[in-house]
Amino acid sequence: MARKVLILNGPNLNLLGTREPELYGATTLADIEASCRAHAATLDMVVDFRQSNHEGELVTWIQEAGNDHDAIIINPAAFSHTSIAIHDALRAVGLPLIEVHISNIFQRESFRHHSYVSAVASGVICGFGPSGYRLALSAVNEMIS
Ligand code: DQA
Repeated sequence: MARKVLILNGPNLNLLGTREPELYGATTLADIEASCRAHAATLDMVVDFRQSNHEGELVTWIQEAGNDHDAIIINPAAFSHTSIAIHDALRAVGLPLIEVHISNIFQRESFRHHSYVSAVASGVICGFGPSGYRLALSAVNEMIS
C-alpha cells in the first residue's frame, strides 16, 4: 500500500511566488505541491499537502497525522523560531520527520538560526530552494522503506 506523507507549510508560505522573490524565488506553493505529488508518485507515496497561517491548526493537523500518516515533512516558516507548541506536537506524535526551509536560514538574521523543530526532526534540509521538498520526500522514502 502507498505510504502517506503529510507535508505541512506554516505562515506566509501561501504568498510564495510574490513574497520576497529574491529570497524565495518565483515558484508558488501550488507549483511545489504539484512537484511533490509527481515525485511522490514515483516513490509509491501519497502526499497530503497543507498550509496554514495558524499555529493551533498546524498543531491539530500534526496530532491527527499520528492516526493515519507514515511521516511528516514540515516547513514551519516563522513558527520554527517561536513555537514550543509545534515542537511538543511533533514530539508527541513521534513520526519520522523532515524539516524543510527554502532559504538557508543560517545565512540570514540571527533570530532564524534556532529552530524549535530541529531538535525533534530526523533531519533538516535548508537552502536548496523549492527542491528541498523533493529531497525531503526522497529522504523519507529511504527512512520508511
Ligand atoms: C523559511 C525560513 C523562515 O525563517 C521564514 O520565517 C519563512 C520561510 C524558509 O522556508 O526559508 O517563512 O521557513
